[in-house]
Amino acid sequence: MCGIVGGISKKNITPVLINGLKKLEYRGYDSAGIVTLCKNNKLNRARAVGKVVNLEKRIKDKKTPMDGTIGIAHTRWATHGEPSSRNAHPHICNHSVSVVHNGIIENFLELKATQEADGYIFTSDTDTEVIGHAIHQYLQDSESLLEATQKAILTFKGAYGIGVISPKDPGHIIATRSGSPLVIGISNKGNFIASDQMALLDITKDFIYLLEGDIADITLDSVTIYDKDGNQVEREIKTSKLKSGQVSKRGYDHYMLKEIFEQPQAIRDTLESRITKDSVLLSAFGYKAEDIFKNTKHIQIIACGTSYNAGLVGKYWLEDIAKISTHIEVASEYRYRNPIILDNTLFITISQSGETADTLEALKALKKRSKGKNIHTLTICNSAESSLTRESELTFLTHAGPEIGVASTKAFTTQLVSLALLSVVMGRCHKQVSKQQEAKIVDGLNRLPGLIKQTLKQEDQIKELAKTFKDKFNALFIGRGTMHAIAMEGALKLKEISYIHAEAFPAGELKHGPIALIDKDTPVIAIAPNDRLLDKLKSNLQEVNSRGSQMIVFEDEAAKITPMKGMTIVPTTTDLGRITAPIIFTIPLQLLSYHVALIKGTNIDQPRNLAKSVTVE
Ligand code: M6R
Repeated sequence: MCGIVGGISKKNITPVLINGLKKLEYRGYDSAGIVTLCKNNKLNRARAVGKVVNLEKRIKDKKTPMDGTIGIAHTRWATHGEPSSRNAHPHICNHSVSVVHNGIIENFLELKATQEADGYIFTSDTDTEVIGHAIHQYLQDSESLLEATQKAILTFKGAYGIGVISPKDPGHIIATRSGSPLVIGISNKGNFIASDQMALLDITKDFIYLLEGDIADITLDSVTIYDKDGNQVEREIKTSKLKSGQVSKRGYDHYMLKEIFEQPQAIRDTLESRITKDSVLLSAFGYKAEDIFKNTKHIQIIACGTSYNAGLVGKYWLEDIAKISTHIEVASEYRYRNPIILDNTLFITISQSGETADTLEALKALKKRSKGKNIHTLTICNSAESSLTRESELTFLTHAGPEIGVASTKAFTTQLVSLALLSVVMGRCHKQVSKQQEAKIVDGLNRLPGLIKQTLKQEDQIKELAKTFKDKFNALFIGRGTMHAIAMEGALKLKEISYIHAEAFPAGELKHGPIALIDKDTPVIAIAPNDRLLDKLKSNLQEVNSRGSQMIVFEDEAAKITPMKGMTIVPTTTDLGRITAPIIFTIPLQLLSYHVALIKGTNIDQPRNLAKSVTVE
């Protein structure tokens, strides 16, 4: 989704901004732009549709060099207005205020009408332009760019992360956020802003994470922050543990493939210091966890996309292992419903980024709605310094490491591992899990990295199978129990990166409608673990097969699916349990979608229309 980089330094700022934009490319965007305040104290702008390299060409072709030491830059993912140069940020008002913006100003039509009446000219279709005009208007009777921006933001409704510069107040960048993330990078080379610390890791590891409503006045050697009430505040400088090198493909053709192969290590990292040889450490969920978990009577999971699919598996486990009634809903629906909130509910948000607007807003909404009730919140998240971790009482970090491919892979399997750990401790708190059961689950979790390595060896076979999808437009995924959730994740991966229409169904539901979709051009991918529903699944496979569909069955070796005409059986490792099976069966589905996309020639790491972190509604 949109990305912001800005900075003020002793040297030409342009290379820093361009490098930062490149680091944000993974988030998804369709145009990019930069403004610097040049030596002649004039705003100098370049914008281009498409990739940052196009912007670099534009900069080279410019008559006036972009030689300023202060500037802001942006990658835009279109919301209001098509992807085009005129809609790309930064926007400039009357040669004197330039802004970059992430988020959506919901009352922009209202503001636009007033500003037009006041004589302001709009040169784009974006909501962002009202920000520049509003600041410009207030600048006329303000003493500083800071003061003008403070006044302007009071008129905005919606979500924003904003960077502003002006020749009227050179030497200052104003940065403010509400609902969209923004960090300040501190270094002896200058001070910088970004919507994601990844953009600045080549320059600094020291960051200030702005809180909701904060506004910062940034100069070459100072950062002054005011909270939403205008009080000057101190915010801690935190040193990031991320390394800039972690954001590289390390010899793989795509980030997605690298991240698929990183899963054994990612899972080891998730488990580290969270388990002993035969038990799960409750303290891994925070010092308040024991009290909260013991008093939990209901669980409500809220998440989006892949994280939602992980939550679906979690629901099965929490009910099966901990015997606690668990509901799950996509955040974009939950936030606008009037759900019945019961006392002693634990709300669990799951998110790779920790910045997904729907999930974050659903959490904020439920906290408001449940005032006076005894509820608690836990987030399972991959980003330590994120809005979700700040909004939640308990945090469990997945430790997957940075995930750059838009299609989530290692974040998903580490979310599953986290949910497995939670199910065990929750079960223990409710006296539903015996020592032997716990030891068995821990043993399974410990074996996962090895099992995944073994499964990854099937890549060549899956590459061959992917050829089946070369000319296909539809595919169906089926599974039962937790495998339905895994089928959903498989279908999501395939549609995201290969653009093949893919749907997932509980196998038993086929006969109630979806079976009408089956024909020889619609491959069916089935997941067959060796569990108590195996015989039921075998009957479902017969139903599909007798309708002439091509089928691929990923089976537990012990499931011994009878081969049928048009069916390819891919045995995975055997002896999988209720926790290990969903995690292991995810791997071939990830590889399948990757290789189908490769054959289709799509942009695997940045598929069309998608963003890594969806920070708008
Ligand atoms: O960062 P989050 O986990 O909150 O993101 C939620 C979804 O946007 C995300 O999982 C999306 O569905 C992925 N692109 C799936 O691969």
